[in-house]
Amino acid sequence: MITPRSLEAGQRFLLAAKKWWTADLYEHLRKQYLAQAGAKADRHNVADVAAILEDTTEYRYFAWLERHLQRMKYSGAYGLARYYDQARDSVLPPLAEVERKSALLDLQPDLPLPRYYTGVDIHQHPGGVWSDDVAGLVYEHGARTTTPMLGTSHADLHTRFTELVGKRMTPKKILDLGCGFGKSTQPFYAAFPEAQVEGIDLSGPCLRLAARAAESVGAKNIRFRQRDAVNTGYSPGSFDLVTSTMLLHETPPAPLETIIEEAARVLEPGGRMIHLDFHHLPDAFRRFMFYGHGRRNNEPYMQPLAEVDLHKVLKRHGFEDVTIEPFSEAEGLGVHREDVWRLPWTVISARKSSRADSRTKRTKRAKSRSARS
Ligand SMILES: C[S@@+](CC[C@H](N)C(=O)[O-])C[C@H]1O[C@@H](n2cnc3c(N)ncnc32)[C@H](O)[C@@H]1O
Repeated sequence: MITPRSLEAGQRFLLAAKKWWTADLYEHLRKQYLAQAGAKADRHNVADVAAILEDTTEYRYFAWLERHLQRMKYSGAYGLARYYDQARDSVLPPLAEVERKSALLDLQPDLPLPRYYTGVDIHQHPGGVWSDDVAGLVYEHGARTTTPMLGTSHADLHTRFTELVGKRMTPKKILDLGCGFGKSTQPFYAAFPEAQVEGIDLSGPCLRLAARAAESVGAKNIRFRQRDAVNTGYSPGSFDLVTSTMLLHETPPAPLETIIEEAARVLEPGGRMIHLDFHHLPDAFRRFMFYGHGRRNNEPYMQPLAEVDLHKVLKRHGFEDVTIEPFSEAEGLGVHREDVWRLPWTVISARKSSRADSRTKRTKRAKSRSARS
């Protein structure tokens, strides 16, 4: 039996251990690598870093801790999956009530889920964020101890991203792809009360939590729907902003390309697509550490996203004004800070060409003419 007190004590222990791993152990490895690489570090690739670090005791320990602290968080004796499994009789009825009553929620329990999604226990979350009714609660609780922020809260990240978007535009129709339990959507419906906001996700258990949070603050300008980002079902030109936070790195290259195509379809000409995800890796050391993180944390599509030529992909789908910039996940943590482990937060922004629809129509007309002739 795990009591709330022992659960929280276990989570606090994990967070403290992760803080040491993030700051002290990571910095130790970085110095060890730089001392050996010397002036050659600037010309190194991932294989060069691996040749120096991979067999060292310190790196092995770093890697072991990375995998097993996360595993303990979910599956250990004081893990979240066990806790919510045992608490299901008390935590699920209020969520079932939200599902019955909320006008903000539109679930489609028969929505087919892609195999790349169901085939991986993402983040080492047993059964992923979708397969169990308590999965949303497990994920929501786990997000509080995922990244030990150096002095600030993780919620800061989503708010600051929304503020950045607000400096570029005042959106009126917003689509948040892969909204999860609504953490990325909430700052949008709060910051833009005049806008109509749609949040979509594959996970019913997460969407119930998102709707409950929106109900609790009396939000009226938001709807959460169970839909696939590759095929959202919205009419062409429905939005002036399509956004996502931490969706793209959970998507393999082929569906990623389809999501970009779908975003272009549902955006009005001149509309913007602004994503927050993991992409910008300025040197081989960080790249090596990040690729290892993807393997150790069951996030197999992280490396492909880091390697894809996003400029090319976005241009292929009629986007222009493409910018790809590092993003600081916390106030006071500069984007160039190198002495602590950090995910490569990146803002990927692009505008749908005002001419994109007419060009697509011209291409389609030309294709059907050549098919007839
Ligand atoms: C890492 S979570 C991020 C959630 C939220 N955006 C946030 O910032 O907290 C990624 C979310 O994307 C969802 N997802 C993955 N593939 C999807 C797809 N093809 N369509 C819709 N949602 C998807 C997952 O179910 C998960 O909730």
